[in-house]
Amino acid sequence: MRTQVGIIGAGPAGLLLSHLLHLRGISSVVLEKRSRDYVERRVRAGVLEQGTVDTLIEAGVGERLLREGLPHHGIELRYDGERHRIAFEKLVPGRAITVYGQQEVVKDLIAARLEAGGDIRFEVEDVAAHSLEDRPYLTFGGERLDCDVIAGCDGFHGVSRPSIPPGVLKTYERDYPFAWLGVLAEVAPSSEELIYARTERGFALHSMRSPTISRFYLQVPPDADVAEWPDERIWAELRTRLETVPGFALTTGAIIEKSVTPMRGFVTEPMQHGRLYLAGDAAHIVPPTGAKGLNLAVADVRVLTEALTAFFHDGSTGALDGYSAACLKRVWRAQHFSWWMTTLLHTFDSDDAYGRRLQLSYLDYVTSSEAAATTLAENYVGLPW
Ligand code: FAD
Ligand code: PHB
Repeated sequence: MRTQVGIIGAGPAGLLLSHLLHLRGISSVVLEKRSRDYVERRVRAGVLEQGTVDTLIEAGVGERLLREGLPHHGIELRYDGERHRIAFEKLVPGRAITVYGQQEVVKDLIAARLEAGGDIRFEVEDVAAHSLEDRPYLTFGGERLDCDVIAGCDGFHGVSRPSIPPGVLKTYERDYPFAWLGVLAEVAPSSEELIYARTERGFALHSMRSPTISRFYLQVPPDADVAEWPDERIWAELRTRLETVPGFALTTGAIIEKSVTPMRGFVTEPMQHGRLYLAGDAAHIVPPTGAKGLNLAVADVRVLTEALTAFFHDGSTGALDGYSAACLKRVWRAQHFSWWMTTLLHTFDSDDAYGRRLQLSYLDYVTSSEAAATTLAENYVGLPW
């Protein structure tokens, strides 16, 4: 079997790459270890930057996103008994975010690929990448797929990054001393906009998926187990951390999904070796506080698509050679922003009373200085693509 681009992983990065390459007349095969049902149900990110939305619309997969996505023109920072709105329409006029679940993006992309006759293999076993420097190929479940190029879009725990020989990559990593418990609930959102809440008991985030589905996150210890978090405990903790301002009441409902996500920043440099190119979480992850993970994956894929188009259409390798350098500027800006949002809003056990007062003072600065609020807003909605 042979294809131009062998893609490992049917997450947002791998599926979007396959779709964009198809639009440029470049063939690909996507190898995914999970089932279609599993990847379409996996609940993760929900905030799309304008550049992500534009990319999906331009690629012809934005129809449902435009219909069902929820445009947001601000977020709330809640702390010390007060609410403070970061008003995008005032601080970054004309720019906004759209709330639309990652698994909805995945469903739309799978449907588009299959409708166009695309080749996605689900539930493939033992994917391995070989001969990265010359005539690369993939093996899986006893089969062999020869390719001109391999795209490693298999997330943080995938096989593509570890297939690069030792000593080639430099990795940068920061683990945070807490995790996020993510909850999906069948209840109308209690707020029109996202609420990022900092309390002495830890961080909480009120997000949403639709007019009838809400999404919440709680800062929990790094080793937290969902079994320790029965529904009543989750609602009680969300109430304590969110019902801190006059007039706000949290509406509760049936919890339909919960999971614990570790908080980590990670970058590998370079994001390529030989004919293997890493994109999305395979190359870098951010703590989710800045809502950047999915958007970075889409940004990488746009750069990679342009570089592969130049390579396959006229044989030029310049853009492919510069792929990693072209992505890493945005990646490191997002790392910094995600680290900054995380330290601004979470409680660290290592912080003494002085550290906690400093954090509150910084929050006051961010919400009272137009320059500081603009910095938050322009990074949150996404720097220009
Ligand atoms: P992924 O979505 O991870 O896709 C990789 C795909 O590769 C998966 O389908 C996987 O099954 C497949 N795969 C892995 N190994 C193999 C293999 N050996 N062979 C074949 N296939 C393989 N970001 C936010 O902004 N907000 C959030 O709330 C948020 N929550 C998250 C929760 C979790 C648990 C995780 C892991 C990430 C979260 N993120 C969040 C980050 C965001 O979801 C990711 O940045 C985004 O999914 C990146 O897309 P991707 O396609 O690069 O990787
Ligand atoms: C989400 O809705 O899943 C979400 C929103 C904002 C974040 C992270 C996740 O910062």
